[in-house]
Amino acid sequence: MQTVPRVIVCSDKATLARRAVQCVTEGLAQTNGIFRVALAGGSTPGEAYRLLAQTPNLPKERLRFFLGDERMVSHDHKDSNARMVRETLLGTGAFGPESFVPIQTDGFTPEQAAREYEQTLAREFGLALGGSQVPQLDLMFLGLGDDGHTASLFPQKPALHITERWAVPSAPGILPPPVDRVTLTFPVLNAARSVVFLIAGASKAETVRRILEGSPTLDEAPAAHVRPKTGTLTFLLDSEAASGLSRDSRYIYETA
Ligand code: 6PG
Repeated sequence: MQTVPRVIVCSDKATLARRAVQCVTEGLAQTNGIFRVALAGGSTPGEAYRLLAQTPNLPKERLRFFLGDERMVSHDHKDSNARMVRETLLGTGAFGPESFVPIQTDGFTPEQAAREYEQTLAREFGLALGGSQVPQLDLMFLGLGDDGHTASLFPQKPALHITERWAVPSAPGILPPPVDRVTLTFPVLNAARSVVFLIAGASKAETVRRILEGSPTLDEAPAAHVRPKTGTLTFLLDSEAASGLSRDSRYIYETA
């Protein structure tokens, strides 16, 4: 039985960042041992990552960070998600470099990079590649593209339908930069204990309405098909991104 999505409308981006950090601190409080977080790329989450790095009294040694997707550029390229994470989450030195498990890109083809990340995940989660089990992240941050994509799972693309892999190459969608990517697949997204979308800006409002109140197909709006099997699903929205919602009964609506 899938849980009903929770929609939390934040008055501004600073509040959205604070609530995102709260998802980490609450998750840590409810668990023991290593707490594995998959980070979203793009421009929205940076403020939350910076705030997390400044959060006092975090059991930082318990946190390990992964990426939901990566662009096939070097890690010092302006479009690299690994670079964005290093500049925001790791910039202050609060978290050691060993706490972040990037997707290796240099010297790899997209397929090689995907395979290498799968091997990394197998080691990190103590799983056999190709087995029936799927890495279960404790927390998965995701973004939303205007076209309904999430991670690098783009509309109409083959990666949407791959279920026997944990990470796959993903040909460029409409989203700049037009480079190949590597993305976690739906089985991994939907295995997470908690999935939290971080979405801000008026340009996302119609897509937010479609995925929460419409019934788009997987190929039309992949983000609408992120439905954790047993985990929770939360949408942290700023008021602009939430402006198209009619407070439908299909989700629990809160303000922050
Ligand atoms: C990426 C992201 C992608 C992003 C959305 C939203 O690598 O670009 O993983 O899925 O989260 O495109 O991006 P913004 O936060 O920049 O709007």
